[in-house]
Amino acid sequence: MTEWEEHYQQGHTPWDKGAPAPPLLDFLRTEPLDGDILVPGCGMGHDVRAIAAAAPKARLTGLDIAPTAIDRARGFALAGQERYVLGDLFDLEPKLRGAFDWVWEHTCYCAIPPEKRERYLEAVAAALRPGGRLLGVFYLDPYDNEHQPGNGRPPFGTSLQDLEQRLSAHGFQVLRSWVPERSYPGREGRERMILTQRP
Ligand SMILES: C[S@@+](CC[C@H](N)C(=O)[O-])C[C@H]1O[C@@H](n2cnc3c(N)ncnc32)[C@H](O)[C@@H]1O
Repeated sequence: MTEWEEHYQQGHTPWDKGAPAPPLLDFLRTEPLDGDILVPGCGMGHDVRAIAAAAPKARLTGLDIAPTAIDRARGFALAGQERYVLGDLFDLEPKLRGAFDWVWEHTCYCAIPPEKRERYLEAVAAALRPGGRLLGVFYLDPYDNEHQPGNGRPPFGTSLQDLEQRLSAHGFQVLRSWVPERSYPGREGRERMILTQRP
């Protein structure tokens, strides 16, 4: 059993705010996503349902490694054309490769150990079709009393410079990068929205 699954089984999921990410909602208000969309590390699927509701023609796939998260996500009423898949982003099943127009990132990147960041970006690039876009709210500074840097446990913070360098090294062109106007309480000023496109 992964530690993530243990967290869900024990009900210790401080990242889960029971609602979609405010920066995502703001983005969707003006630019609903379309086509095939992957949400890796979707947890209980709040963002998946928000995207699906904003774009009824879009086909959403929420992916998570924790069976309990996927079960909970599947327990919500459908908001549009969404489905949930139990799986590992680092071992994507062949039919999920090259299958997406968009990837939505939210607290998956900071959940993954820094030494796996290259593999994360390779996996996202592999999931996207040519010209596909990675949109994310990156939690650059996730530290608080409970979560301290350097203890080897998630969440793992990063700098904007490191993130943008890695994106560019993997061929992602940064189209826009901005501080979101709204965040969950406590995350204000600590997140960055980035819209990128792969070749
Ligand atoms: C911090 S939680 C965020 C969940 C969700 N995005 C949210 O904000 O509520 C990180 C999620 O990533 C999932 N996860 C971690 N490693 C993964 C992997 N290799 N493949 C797929 N999901 C993964 C965990 O099970 C967990 O649900």
